[in-house]
Formats: sequence, C-alpha cells, structure tokens
Amino acid sequence: MSEKTRFLLSESDLPRFWYNIGADMPVPPTPVLHPQTMQPVTPEFLGVLFPMDLILQEISTERHIEIPEEVREIYKLYRPTPLIRARRLEKALGTPAHIYYKHEGVSPAGSHKPNTAIPQAFYNKIAGTRALTTETGAGQWGSALALACNFFEMDLEVYMVKVSYDAKPYRRVMMETYGAQVFASPTDRTNYGRSLIAQEPNNPGSLGIAISEAVEVAATSNGTKKYSLGSVLNHVLTHQSIIGEEALKQMEMSDEYPDVVIGCVGGGSNFAGIAFPFLRENLRNGTKTRLVAVEPTATPSLTKGLYTFDYGDSARMAPIVKMHTLGHDFLPPPIHAGGLRYHGMAPRICALHHAGYIDAVAVHQLATFDAAVLFARNEGVIPAPESAHAIRIAIDEALDAKAKGEKRVILFNLSGHGNFDMSAYQSYLSGQLVDYEYPREEIERAMSTLPQVALEA
Ligand SMILES: Cc1ncc(COP(=O)(O)O)c(C=O)c1O
Repeated sequence: MSEKTRFLLSESDLPRFWYNIGADMPVPPTPVLHPQTMQPVTPEFLGVLFPMDLILQEISTERHIEIPEEVREIYKLYRPTPLIRARRLEKALGTPAHIYYKHEGVSPAGSHKPNTAIPQAFYNKIAGTRALTTETGAGQWGSALALACNFFEMDLEVYMVKVSYDAKPYRRVMMETYGAQVFASPTDRTNYGRSLIAQEPNNPGSLGIAISEAVEVAATSNGTKKYSLGSVLNHVLTHQSIIGEEALKQMEMSDEYPDVVIGCVGGGSNFAGIAFPFLRENLRNGTKTRLVAVEPTATPSLTKGLYTFDYGDSARMAPIVKMHTLGHDFLPPPIHAGGLRYHGMAPRICALHHAGYIDAVAVHQLATFDAAVLFARNEGVIPAPESAHAIRIAIDEALDAKAKGEKRVILFNLSGHGNFDMSAYQSYLSGQLVDYEYPREEIERAMSTLPQVALEA
C-alpha cells in the first residue's frame, strides 16, 4: 500500500475513450416517449433539440466511444484530475478505513460539469449550431456550458432557477464573464414562463421549469438554437465516465481497490461518472464494489419516488422517460444543494437501482453540512453543498468501519468546490439551517399528474 496522498496521472494518461454502460446494461432499456403522442421518440423529434452525433451517442450500444482530439485538448486544461487520500480526515475520525476522493472541483468552472459541456459544445459546433440554450440550478452547469460555448465561439442563453439567481449573484457574473446571457427563470421570455408569472409573480422556479423554458426557446427558434442538458441523458453519463476511468488507474497506483464508491445524485451524472466504470468491473470482472447514490431528504427521488414514466420537465415538452420521480410539477423546497433539486433521475441509474445494482440513501441538510465543515477543516477544500452529500456517507462508512474494527476502502466523488456557496455556509454556521423531509402526501398527490402511458410501467 502506498504512503502517498495525491495520485496524479500525466497528460498522456488522459483517457482516449469514454465508457458507455449501454453496452453492458444487465437490464433492458426502457423506451423514451414523445410527450404528446406517447409513442417512442424519433431521431427527427430529438433532432430539433440535439445534434445528430449526440443523438447517436444517446442510443449507442458501443462500449467505448472515442473522445475527439479537440475535446481532449480542452480537457487537458484541468484533466486528469487528482485522486487524493483524505489522510487528515481519516485521522480526525480515528478510522481504520482509507478514504479517497476524486477532485472534480479543480476544473475552471469548479465542478465535473465541463466534462460533458465541452463535448456537447463541440458536437454542436461541428453540426453548425450557432447558439445553445440551457437551464441551471446552482449555476455550476451554466458556468460549465458558458465556458465551453466560449471556447467554441457559440452564443448561450442560460435559464437560471430564480431562487439560485437571487442567492448566487456571482455565479451569474461568472457565466456573463464567459460571454453567456443569464435570465432568472421563470422569465417573461417564453409562453410557459409568462403563464407561471401570471399565476404567481413570486414563483421561485425549479429545474423542471427552467428546462421547459430553455427547451421552448430552442424548439421555437426555427433551427437557429439547440438545447443542451447537463445531466440525466445517456450521452451525459457517458461523457462523465472519464472520472471513473481515471479513478480506476489512480486506485491502481495506490495498490488498493474500493469496497464502496459514493456520489451525490441530482440528475445522476457525477455519480454515474465515477461509478459506472467500477460497475463494469463488477459485471465483467467479478469485483464486488458497492455503489451508493446519495440524495437529499428534501428531494428523495430514488429513495421515495415512484419508478414509472414521467415527463422530464414541468411544461411537459421534454420526452417522457421511465425513472424514479417526485412528479414533474415538483416545486422543491429551497434547500442549499441547488444542483440536487430535480424531480427525476437518469433512467439508467433508475433501472440499475431498481434491479439492485446500485444502492441509494437520503441524507438531511444539517448532517450534510456537519460533514462538509469537518471535511473543509481537515482537507482544506470547501465542498459544494451537493458534493457534501457524498462526503456525509463516506464519513458514515468510515465510522461504521471503525465501529466494526474493519479496514474498508472508500472512494467518493468530490463533484465540485463550494467557493460560490458561502451564503449556504453562512446559514449553517449561524444556526439558521433546518432539516426538511419531503412529505409523502405531496408525492402521492403528484402521482395523479403522471402521463397515462399504455406501456407497462
Ligand atoms: C457540484 C455539483 N455536484 C452535483 C450536481 C448534481 O448533478 P449530477 O447528479 O448530474 O451530477 C451538481 C448539479 O448542478 C453540482 O453542481
């Protein structure tokens, strides 16, 4: 076992291929349905929103997808990212467990999101797209796509959930610095936004609403704008696999192999990114790594949502997919992990969780911030509130190993830094943060709004 703390790959070790779990899924794929006809979507329908290269990746069953050289060149600005052994945290916990984390917060935008923003901007660019639209919750995704669009000289409109827009003005300035236009959603720029503001002028917004606005703008642009989504879709999970591919090589450098791999889940992309390459090893090479997805008790789609067909957005314009859902009209409580407030989850993660290949757990906000502060005080990095959900469970695993006197190797994804999340830390440190559990009655009510799909759910 190595005595090292940082496990660094060189630029020449940057993976040349993404891993597409579509080749190894142990359960059959579920159909993606048109939101009006409820029939399987056609490439023409998806082509209004996405370039053909991304549509082909969405349905691909090829195991390895080559990373274009133009994308690798930009990845080299921050990849390979470090794998770090959290020795000081281990010591503070007095645990025999070894805790490793993959530090995705070193990207220029501050999270894992550029891993897919860069290829999405690239494939749009070569397809002739001049402008993209997107939504953002916490601002991490918007910043990442703003960075990528800037590199490929494309315009970008970002629909930012209103509560985050108000709480995180510096994220907005960051996106504008890269050249994007940012709007507080719901806006008066779309039919859907105007209808919501007419009903409730102080509508705080949600990711589902912001997605609807970004989709509406692209779909009604006569082909001049395309839409880009930062999570949930198969091609996004594939792009994020670079995290786990690097982590596999870095764990080898440490002479250890993880017993458990942990990631927080909003739409599921950073978790899939770190976990799917390890799941491939489980499926193909007989390893037995546990994979744990962590979500907030305030948005418990995997742990409390129903596994059924639902719309991907609030206005019912995005495709219907089979996923764990809290209902597409879900209006999340304004918790601080803005990036985890989506009503659904990536269909591939849902299918794998449903079939028992992935565990899921929900954690409270206060316990999450306890973990974030403990981590910051020992390891130095102030984590994004989203990532702190993974840290909470990594610490719980380490304490459980201690109680049982077991050695355990724990790997988690530090999906981003929290340097723009000081208002969240301020609420926590001043004792204003409270726990919130999404009520079961609300989930039951939302179920009456599900699409009536004739297929077996
Ligand atoms: C730092 C960070 N981690 C995690 C997430 C959750 O997204 P996903 O589940 O797609 O990784 C977000 C979303 O904005 C984020 O900003």
